[in-house]
Amino acid sequence: MARIFSGARLVLATHNPGKVREIKDLLAPFSVDVVSAGELNLPEPEETETTFIGNAQLKALAAAKASGQPALADDSGLSVAALNGAPGIYSARWAGPAKDFSIAMKRVEQELQGKTDRTAKFVCALSLCWPDGHAENFEGEVRGRLVFPPRGNKGFGYDPIFVPVGHSTTFAEMEPAAKHAMSHRAKAFAQLVAACFKN
Ligand code: IMP
Repeated sequence: MARIFSGARLVLATHNPGKVREIKDLLAPFSVDVVSAGELNLPEPEETETTFIGNAQLKALAAAKASGQPALADDSGLSVAALNGAPGIYSARWAGPAKDFSIAMKRVEQELQGKTDRTAKFVCALSLCWPDGHAENFEGEVRGRLVFPPRGNKGFGYDPIFVPVGHSTTFAEMEPAAKHAMSHRAKAFAQLVAACFKN
């Protein structure tokens, strides 16, 4: 049995404004006061694990222990089939210290030169941790294909080059609600809610 989240306040263990926005949207139906690690000035731990789940748990545990409150972390990224899953857990790092995703998308395009397979997936691991060290972990993914040049200005990160299966627009061309209905984050979130949130 998963542990139920019964508090009134949840710390979002991320400094990424795009993730904060999407997770706040996904948590809107629940009466939870959401505060981000950035707003609490919590330090950003180094992501030293080798899997999405491992890094999500590392971030959630650090925030739960530092704040004394349950914390939710997201570790996610783009996994490109023809690049053996890269950038994967290094998705944020491909954007460099300035977090410039036009650079990261350019690098994906360059590394795909001469390769025909454009399939990719977004993966999202969510970890909900308590200050006593208890962790509940979930993972969701959405499959699609990559397009160049990037299209659209909604969303964040690699959204402008990702077209989900069955669609012709990129995540960055869709309304946020359309992305939320199918995204890797929404799928991981549905599992988290089913296991840990009472309706
Ligand atoms: P991390 O989980 O903080 O290591 O960062 C994951 C990176 O993957 C983000 O900075 C984004 O670049 C990328 N990423 C994760 N989820 C999405 C998404 O929904 N759309 C676009 N890019 C994403």
